[in-house]
Amino acid sequence: MPKKYYITSPLYYVNSKPHIGHSYTQVACDTVARFLRQNERDVFFMTGTDEHGEKIEKAALGSGLKEGEEQKFVDGIVPVFKDLWARLNIKYDYFIRTTDDYHIQTVRAVLDNLYKLGKIYKKDYKGWFCTPCETFWTQTQSPDGICPDCKRPLEKLDESNYFLKTSEHQKWLIDYINNNPDFIKPNFRKNEILGFLNNEELMDLCITRPKSRMSWGIEVPFDKDYVTYVWFDALINYISGAGYPHDMKRFSRLWPADTHVIGKDILRHHAVYWIIMLRSLGLELPKTIFAHGWWVIKGEKMSKSKGNAVDPIDIISRFGVDPYRYFLLREVQFGMDGTFSEEALVSRYNSDLANDIGNLLSRTLTMAEKYFSGAVPDVSNIKIADPAAEEISSKVVNTAQEMVKLIPNFDFSAALAKIWEVIGLANKYIENSKPWVLAKEGKQEELALVIYTLLEALRIIAIEIYSFMPETSEKMLAQLGVSQGADRAFSDAKIWGKLAKGSKVSKLGSLFPRIVTKA
Ligand code: MSP
Repeated sequence: MPKKYYITSPLYYVNSKPHIGHSYTQVACDTVARFLRQNERDVFFMTGTDEHGEKIEKAALGSGLKEGEEQKFVDGIVPVFKDLWARLNIKYDYFIRTTDDYHIQTVRAVLDNLYKLGKIYKKDYKGWFCTPCETFWTQTQSPDGICPDCKRPLEKLDESNYFLKTSEHQKWLIDYINNNPDFIKPNFRKNEILGFLNNEELMDLCITRPKSRMSWGIEVPFDKDYVTYVWFDALINYISGAGYPHDMKRFSRLWPADTHVIGKDILRHHAVYWIIMLRSLGLELPKTIFAHGWWVIKGEKMSKSKGNAVDPIDIISRFGVDPYRYFLLREVQFGMDGTFSEEALVSRYNSDLANDIGNLLSRTLTMAEKYFSGAVPDVSNIKIADPAAEEISSKVVNTAQEMVKLIPNFDFSAALAKIWEVIGLANKYIENSKPWVLAKEGKQEELALVIYTLLEALRIIAIEIYSFMPETSEKMLAQLGVSQGADRAFSDAKIWGKLAKGSKVSKLGSLFPRIVTKA
């Protein structure tokens, strides 16, 4: 039985269409999911949409709809997200919406359960609320009424609400994080959470909003004057979408999640509140929470509400899907912030894609057609020592082995850098071995070895880039005459020499035509 791997993305708010920040989390999840499927893991990648709360209600009303018509609004936006994921080749296994009936039932069952267990109580709440972040803040956390996260003015709240007993878990949580080094990644984010838990007193979590203020949410089962706080509702998706409690057989196969992938802005919600919710329910905890950094534009976080968001559809229609996926995961180390700019994307495109990999494939295929009529040369009886060829074969196979450690650890840029090292070596090999001179001088064996080495390296490279750039991988394998796709067969990248002698290769146009920019 293949080992299961349950990976989740956050649920995206549907107050407006997605921008590149959202597509970043999604491309990262998809890359890990594809890579592990390639490695025969039984992957369950769940994504979806977060559809309740004040922010969505405001957006619905702002679009001209009336109170009570919010469902119509969210139904109109969800397809925009789904279309983008299809365009980006995001292959998820399940899509959850927080307005799905089974999810609503799970949230109500969880509330009921915790209430009966005496873990939820009612009290007056005086404090701040940030609508764009959908987050409560205390007077101590924000003495000036400005959101510590997004720096926008906060709304003052004075209302009765229900609370989840949270503070009593503080000491346990600190110990748990310290004893489980893989629980929060990267390490510096773990330290941030520990810093917060060690220095601030954890407040009980407010989990409702009075309907008199905001009614677009899941009604609280034990008090119909309240709806559920949107974060409490949304976090439960990770278990409701896995079958809790309506399909416990499926749930026990999937839970605990292997990785929750999120952005750094929502780490506290996941690493503190979600964990305490699970503990209160007596459920197991996710194995890892990985928080990535932000894409910033001119020093500011890109966001829908700030109006500086870049539309991924615009970028992919001009530069292509795979270059976009490649850029997001190559440009910055996953976990750190990065600056998005079209210039940086074009520069990566031209150097890494058009020049390096595109040229390598194109030159190699041209030579295979010219010198061997497009047939993979037979090198089985060639005994020439060629240290450069040996270096390429051992490096490309070794890269596959390295990737098995790097990708599940979300170290995408390091994995890509390793693949590109091999590509660099192969391009240099062409220049140094000068196949055109070998051909002129009639050195058939040397020539066969060079061309075979290049073709075989390209076969392995195509399998290695599959999880990042699935379409490019397919195009490369088709040109190399390999009929089996790369989606299940990463093990083929660990074996040198699988390209069958005599099989036909054929050049089918350029992978990445150079982008000419105006000076
Ligand atoms: N709905 C909540 C998550 C609930 S999960 C149970 C939410 N939604 S969001 O639409 O605002 O953000 C979704 C994801 O996009 C988050 O992981 C967030 O970090 C990511 N990004 C949003 N803007 C971003 C950037 N500018 N850069 C990188 N990712 C950022 O939060």
